[in-house]
Amino acid sequence: MTVYPVTEEFVAEVGDVDLSQPPTEESRREIEELLDRYAVLVFPDQRLTIDQHLAFAAGFGPLETTIHATRSDAELRLRPEIADVSNLSRGDRIWGENSRKRMFEMGNRMWHTDSSFKRVPAKASLLYARSIPPTGGQTEFADMRAAYDALPEATRERLKGLVAEHAIMYSRRKLGFTDFSDEENQALPPVPQTLVRRHPGSGRMGLYLASHAGRIIGMSDREGTEMLEELIAHATQRQYVHTHRWRVHDLVMWDNRCTMHRGRPYDDLRWPRDVQRATVADVAPTSEQEGVQVSAAA
Ligand code: OGA
Ligand code: MN
Repeated sequence: MTVYPVTEEFVAEVGDVDLSQPPTEESRREIEELLDRYAVLVFPDQRLTIDQHLAFAAGFGPLETTIHATRSDAELRLRPEIADVSNLSRGDRIWGENSRKRMFEMGNRMWHTDSSFKRVPAKASLLYARSIPPTGGQTEFADMRAAYDALPEATRERLKGLVAEHAIMYSRRKLGFTDFSDEENQALPPVPQTLVRRHPGSGRMGLYLASHAGRIIGMSDREGTEMLEELIAHATQRQYVHTHRWRVHDLVMWDNRCTMHRGRPYDDLRWPRDVQRATVADVAPTSEQEGVQVSAAA
């Protein structure tokens, strides 16, 4: 493998590796080590079928299934192990202006980390580009370790042991999207996540935030919202953010434990943007990993 840092400690490009083969024990370890040091890895010019994409991702842990599969009437374009973050509907046609999928996927334009609305959230995401629009549609990444390091000591003390409630319904509600079935509401209740995490690979501390975070346990709604908004504003300042300009056949792998990301706007009713995600689940709830007691989670 050949590694070219894009930034000193956040993003690297990796070449001389063929992701169409499942990782060997050696390459798996090497990639995990790179992910511990950087948090975003770009693998350009990969030619992957869906099976190869999933098989490569599965080398890093159990794969998640898309939350859309919780609906029994789901009409998935791809397989349930793929999060289809494209603007395409079945038959690969560009989605309708008022389609449910479009309204829902607009949530990806808010800063988040994947699956923080699940009790065991995502460890890593592997997003693969089959087609991209000529302009716009970049993905931005924020380094939550660098953002944590820059916090005043008093703030870090205040964050110790705090737990937020995350739900997919919370982030979608911010967009005015409330079209969830009873099935989904039951399958996706709010879950507790610590506000701060220690990364097991690097030992570095990081903020753990997302648009999915609704309230902080033990605080009034106003206080909690204010703190979450302030922390997200802090963590997404330009100096912590890298913008990825996609090329077709890029596979970007990021560490959800210490980053946030968001998709940028593009003319989504004009250009197909076919990007597909395989997602590796983490090993345990954050509160368990951090040794934090959750007092009054919903
Ligand atoms: C994702 C995601 C943003 C984008 O795949 O998890 O949030 O730019 N994507 O498509
Ligand atoms: Mn995402």
